[in-house]
Amino acid sequence: MLDFLTLPLGRSQRYRTHRVAIVGSGYVGLVTGACLAELGNRVTCIDTDVQRIAALAEGTVPFHEPGLRELILRNRHLGRLDFSSSTSAGVQGCEFVFIAVGTPMNADGSCDLSALRLATLQIADGISDEAILINKSTAPVGTGDLIAALVREHRGDADRVRVVSNPEFLREGSAIADFRSPDRIVIGADEPEAAARMRELYSPINAPVIVTDRRTAEMIKYAANAFLATKISFINEIADLCEHLGADVTGVIAGAGADRRIGTASFNAGLGFGGSCFPKDVSSLIDVAQRCGAPSRLLPTVLQINRARVERVLDNMVAAVGSVAGKRIGVLGLSFKANTDDVRESPALTMIGRLLESRVEVVAHDPVAIPGARRILGETVEFVDDCYKATNDADAVLIATDWNEYRHLDFAMIKKLMRGSVLVDARNLCDPARVAAAGLHYIGVGRSSRATPALTPRLAVVSADPAKSTAVSLQAG
Ligand SMILES: NC(=O)c1ccc[n+]([C@@H]2O[C@H](COP(=O)([O-])OP(=O)(O)OC[C@H]3O[C@@H](n4cnc5c(N)ncnc54)[C@H](O)[C@@H]3O)[C@@H](O)[C@H]2O)c1
Repeated sequence: MLDFLTLPLGRSQRYRTHRVAIVGSGYVGLVTGACLAELGNRVTCIDTDVQRIAALAEGTVPFHEPGLRELILRNRHLGRLDFSSSTSAGVQGCEFVFIAVGTPMNADGSCDLSALRLATLQIADGISDEAILINKSTAPVGTGDLIAALVREHRGDADRVRVVSNPEFLREGSAIADFRSPDRIVIGADEPEAAARMRELYSPINAPVIVTDRRTAEMIKYAANAFLATKISFINEIADLCEHLGADVTGVIAGAGADRRIGTASFNAGLGFGGSCFPKDVSSLIDVAQRCGAPSRLLPTVLQINRARVERVLDNMVAAVGSVAGKRIGVLGLSFKANTDDVRESPALTMIGRLLESRVEVVAHDPVAIPGARRILGETVEFVDDCYKATNDADAVLIATDWNEYRHLDFAMIKKLMRGSVLVDARNLCDPARVAAAGLHYIGVGRSSRATPALTPRLAVVSADPAKSTAVSLQAG
């Protein structure tokens, strides 16, 4: 936190603070609002969910995001951050109004813009002519034009309010650090004056700023998410091949990822991608491509590979334990990835759904995501607050989310607690040799039983120059 507080100093000597409103107080809206307040701006976070706003005003943050609560409390205390459930009132007098409402997926895969449309109309009721209206929600190319048209029609006036696209790239679980030092800030503005004002707002952040037109900015966000999703499906396909060929995908990731053109970040084999962004954004891009007459050949396959992950891991589990019907299986991890309580499109929940269909008794643990999972799964699953309790009497244990605490489990204790001996590591978190040494049968994703135990999961990288020889973590990313 202190790092963050020191960030604006120096460059902020001449930073003029602004009145900012954020419409939509979810993961993106709250993080953006709290971080902009931390830079010294006066920020109002708005949401139509009255209960959420009341809870925020009491200091209760509606989801788990490391450091966010402290940032909100601090800036409330300093009088720089407040909350409102009235959009038209909350945006009044603001120089910058951000849209950060949800843009979920329709049943046909297209992007549901209903919340964004409604928010735009509510904003149009209160926004001043001089304000910049910024869309942060991920939405199809052309959504900025739609927002501008809606504001114009609703206000019945000339084209005064500037509409900018400023896509968000934060990752849940490290959202504050991502705001503080993003890889880049993208500003899509069709008027140079609007772009200049956006640059000024972000000037305390030390990051490359890419200024482009609005449509290109919108496409950048889709292209980035589609590429990352493709990278994951690609390595999952390679992992399947590794299983057939007796190669080890963690070594492949280290070796191929060492090429700087490839990189090891977001390059892990496992249960596939989930969450509130990749699945819906890839689906939306497929839909957009179809509608504009240039259907994607690649992206439907990316989704298809991803959907097959759960079945693949399940098949490997069945091959090891026999029929799973009537068995008791401990599931470690419920959120779609580590460091968040977000269970939207979580592969762990999809896996649990398949286990329940197969009449498995499921006992599940997660450090923070149990309340969210319980809202979806109800009492069909036994939830436990200690990961070792999930292994008690289990015929098999499945690691479904890459929480750090599952990397270094006491496997000897787990062996004693379990009825069976199969550990399915669907995120390739553990050292197969350590698991095997405890007497457990290890099943990873794309891991070869022939891989030299001493080389996994850390791989020796030997250079001709001994000083440069090192060991690379194969779990990077
Ligand atoms: N979550 C992420 O990691 C992430 C990262 C980058 C981009 N995005 C994009 O940002 C957008 C927001 O995502 P999120 O995860 O923060 O969503 P979220 O579901 O956590 O929050 C959206 C909020 O908007 C509120 N809302 C809906 N309609 C409203 C209205 N008319 N007026 C005011 N508030 C309204 C909802 O009540 C909710 O609190 C989406 O387009 C998403 O694709 C998300």
